[in-house]
Amino acid sequence: MRARRALLYTPGDDPSKIHKAAHLGADCVCLDMEDGVAANRKIEARASIREALLTIDFGKSERLVRINPVGSRLESLDLSETLPSRPDGVVIPKVDNAEQVRWVSEIITEYEHAQGWPDGGICLIAIVESARAIINLLSIASSDRRLQALIFGAEDFVGDVGATRTRAGWEVFYARSRIVTYATAYNLQAIDQVFLDFHDTQGLQEDANLGMQMGFSGKQIIHPNQVAPVQEAFTPSDEAIANAIHLIETYTRHQEAGQGAFGLDGKMIDAPIVKSAQRVLDRARAAGKL
Ligand code: COA
Ligand code: MG
Repeated sequence: MRARRALLYTPGDDPSKIHKAAHLGADCVCLDMEDGVAANRKIEARASIREALLTIDFGKSERLVRINPVGSRLESLDLSETLPSRPDGVVIPKVDNAEQVRWVSEIITEYEHAQGWPDGGICLIAIVESARAIINLLSIASSDRRLQALIFGAEDFVGDVGATRTRAGWEVFYARSRIVTYATAYNLQAIDQVFLDFHDTQGLQEDANLGMQMGFSGKQIIHPNQVAPVQEAFTPSDEAIANAIHLIETYTRHQEAGQGAFGLDGKMIDAPIVKSAQRVLDRARAAGKL
């Protein structure tokens, strides 16, 4: 699966921001029709997204569109107006159940068939941001073959359960952690919460590092300043890669010598530690470093 370290939202009704977003080197650019666009600007957003996808070169960035929630009565036009410009994927917000994902998938299937495009070429990403979605994660995560990632929408989740947003983030810790667990179980990527204060680089780095340590593959972002720190946080350093390679080589030698557990630099090494080292190399590979 492609790297999705930073997923940058750009309001779909703002052509100058869309132009800017196309050249920032973010792994994913998500042109928004939902909450980043005022209710009276949805028509403009659909039109400028369509135009942008047809005319702007986004380089290596994945071209995603975020539709309005299934059931909002905006979603059908969001899809019919933007699918002709052939996005790489569709992000579905406020997913509460598997049927909503399948509904979007079926519309895309019909459209792909009508156009003669390869079946399943357009992927889906679901935003999990309600108590109900957290309860239904098993069926959402296994809902559809197009689904490649789950996104955690912390702000909506906090609003849904009536929690208070804090810097430490314990109010969302269970939901955040549950999403990584279900995503991993179903071979999906997990994309972490937004960090809203786009002037606070240190806070962003800390939040991105925590997400990476929890097992997320990437993070949603909202400002050009956030691309580099977030992509860096989700890319293993040269030192981490060298350590992982050394650890795996040493482990292989000990296995051949009939030793399952051994000491390396004062720490016990056995199979689970090697698995973590393999995951470091997976991240490095996804980021193009190996
Ligand atoms: N995508 C592309 N370009 C962006 C951007 C984004 N998400 N956010 C800011 N920029 C651009 C600005 O247009 C500006 O460009 P310029 O220098 O050519 O004029 C530059 O980056 C610096 O922006 P800045 O002045 O610091 O911020 P702002 O006041 O213009 O915008 C926000 C602040 C929060 C409104 C803006 O970052 C934004 O729209 N973010 C995305 C919001 C969104 O989509 N929310 C829904 C999902 S959570
Ligand atoms: Mg949301």
